[in-house]
Amino acid sequence: MKILVTGGAGYIGSHTLVELIDAGYEVVAVDNLCNSQKHSLKRVEKITHGNIAFYQIDIRDKEALTQVFKHHKIDAVMHFAGLKAVDKSVQKPIEYYDNNIGGTLALVEVMQNFNCKILVFSSSATVYGDAHKMPIREDFPLSATNPYGYSKLMIEQLLQDVFQAGGGWSIAKLRYFNPIGAHKSGTIGEHPNGIPNNLMPHILRVAMGELDKLNIFGGDYNTPDGTAIRDYIHVVDLAKGHIQALHALIDKPQIITANLGTGNGYSVLDMVMAFEKASGKPVPYQITHRRKGDIAICYADPSYAYKKLNWKAKHGLKDMCQDAWRWQVKNPDGYLC
Ligand code: NAD
Ligand code: WQD
Repeated sequence: MKILVTGGAGYIGSHTLVELIDAGYEVVAVDNLCNSQKHSLKRVEKITHGNIAFYQIDIRDKEALTQVFKHHKIDAVMHFAGLKAVDKSVQKPIEYYDNNIGGTLALVEVMQNFNCKILVFSSSATVYGDAHKMPIREDFPLSATNPYGYSKLMIEQLLQDVFQAGGGWSIAKLRYFNPIGAHKSGTIGEHPNGIPNNLMPHILRVAMGELDKLNIFGGDYNTPDGTAIRDYIHVVDLAKGHIQALHALIDKPQIITANLGTGNGYSVLDMVMAFEKASGKPVPYQITHRRKGDIAICYADPSYAYKKLNWKAKHGLKDMCQDAWRWQVKNPDGYLC
């Protein structure tokens, strides 16, 4: 079977390509490289000894996408392509809606034209907004506080409607919690264009000596140590969740909405300590003001993914930190070296 991976050069897409190739699938990747480098795909080929047919296109370009479907008989699509920076989405809502929603619309239209109706979509725990009960189950109320979150909510609705209209679609909406870590070879990892706002990239920069200290956003949350709690999940576990979802979708046409998280919540201070232990590097920090829009606690109930997809995360915090650190040390300039 041949799987098209949109956003395949990116962080989660590249790790999922490894799992797809290892599972015996043929793969085609498309990416406009707005937040990635195509070297990541060469690295995936190196790890897997596989081949990736790559097209540098924007998925909003329906004609270019059509050409890809004409060249390859695509059986299913894993759709990672999108913009993901929450703060930038507030500054540039039109760009975010155009890219995320416009890209998905173009994709499903071209898929429909080629009678390709199996789709795995990257959603996010952000669709739960500020959930007031933990752990978060898939049937909790949905909300958003920024254009990025709304774009995910709108795409989920779009896909639900496409499924309900009939025609044999089979769709998975996977709600990721906080992906971190890297492939254990240290060959691929997270290397966006520009500096991300997320916690792990900042911890890595401090450990590398590129930043003096980590700013911890808020020490006065209603949590045991006062810092905010998240469900960090190893990117390889996340990638494996996609393979399981694909199997379920191939098995029978259906729509699946599943959390991909570990079920464990860790505070920012837990993360700093776990990283120091795993890397042997100190991570000096200072507690500063809360970051606007942050929530106190967010962790998954992953039991539905286990029941439905026979999937659960296997890696703990130690692996996540060690693997992130290995990638960083081996590739201080990411894919640029
Ligand atoms: P990423 O930025 O590393 O990967 C996304 C890829 O899509 C990039 O390579 C980018 O160049 C490409 N892309 C963006 N717009 C495109 C377009 N119009 N046409 C073609 N390519 C395009 O991000 P990631 O962390 O790998 O995230 C993948 C998906 O998972 C995204 O949809 C993101 O919203 C979602 N997600 C990510 C996280 C996270 O914390 N990393 C959490 C929840 C959900
Ligand atoms: C984690 C914790 C910060 C940086 C974001 C998106 C979410 C999803 C995943 C895509 C928070 C704290 C961070 C720093 C810190 N992405 N922090 N110092 O905010 O949980 O989720 O990425 O869908 O939609 O919102 O992740 O890694 O940014 O932050 O103290 O320098 O680390 O305040 O408590 P977040 P994060």
